[in-house]
Amino acid sequence: MSGRLAGKVAVITGAASGIGRSMARAMVDDGAHVVAVDVDADRLAAVAAELGCEHAVVDITDDAAVRQLLDRERVDILCNNAGILDALTPLADVTDALWDRVMRINLDGPFYACRAVLPKMVEAGGGVILNTCSAAALSGGRAGAAYTASKHALLGITRSIAWYYGDKGIRCNAIAPGAIQTKMHVREAPHTGGFERYGAYFPTMPPHGRAADVARVAAFLVSDDAVYVNGEIVSVDGGWNAF
Ligand SMILES: NC(=O)c1ccc[n+]([C@@H]2O[C@H](COP(=O)([O-])OP(=O)(O)OC[C@H]3O[C@@H](n4cnc5c(N)ncnc54)[C@H](O)[C@@H]3O)[C@@H](O)[C@H]2O)c1
Repeated sequence: MSGRLAGKVAVITGAASGIGRSMARAMVDDGAHVVAVDVDADRLAAVAAELGCEHAVVDITDDAAVRQLLDRERVDILCNNAGILDALTPLADVTDALWDRVMRINLDGPFYACRAVLPKMVEAGGGVILNTCSAAALSGGRAGAAYTASKHALLGITRSIAWYYGDKGIRCNAIAPGAIQTKMHVREAPHTGGFERYGAYFPTMPPHGRAADVARVAAFLVSDDAVYVNGEIVSVDGGWNAF
């Protein structure tokens, strides 16, 4: 297989839908051996059949299962992409259950995966991690409190890994999608107050982007074309962040 990612093994979480599915497609097209990961077994099987890639049903909040997933001969590329929204809930209305659910998936999951994969990458002499953050990793007005906090923290993990492991040949970057047409926004009804407040700023938002627009940038960031990009967050938001 030719392509920028030929010979590379790329593990991508949240690959049964939206941005993750598009990342899987882009990286298969770029020559990678993709391992598509998701908790939604049926949708994942359909995506894997469509792309002809390997797949694994794993809940990323299960540390042991994540360890088992990454306990393979090699993992050249890890894309921590699975994530959920928080119904745009303002802080005072965030329940313990919502806080925990968002933090478990958006933050603990990527933490478990990074912790499991880094020693292997160090041993192999290098590797690439790409964390799907969000425009909400860079400002306070793109989601609710839990989601915003989780994505800010994921950016912190990204920079910490880049700092501590850069000299081991490991690059760790974040991608920050803006408003992308996926199922994420319709999985649950938004918080009324949060949506009203957020909605007031809709006019500042560029037209929605497509998952493939994010995936092409992701494929670049995990390729050697981005060999000198480390600890960076790259916005793919049509200019929304410029507002
Ligand atoms: N769509 C957007 O506008 C947007 C904007 C900024 C950031 N993002 C981020 O992009 C990433 C992908 O979002 P999307 O829009 O494609 O959403 P999506 O809902 O279409 O896909 C998310 C996938 O993650 C999977 N998932 C959820 N919990 C999981 C778990 N515990 N273990 C394994 N898989 C799990 C879901 O089953 C789903 O297939 C998320 O991290 C999200 O925060 C999305």
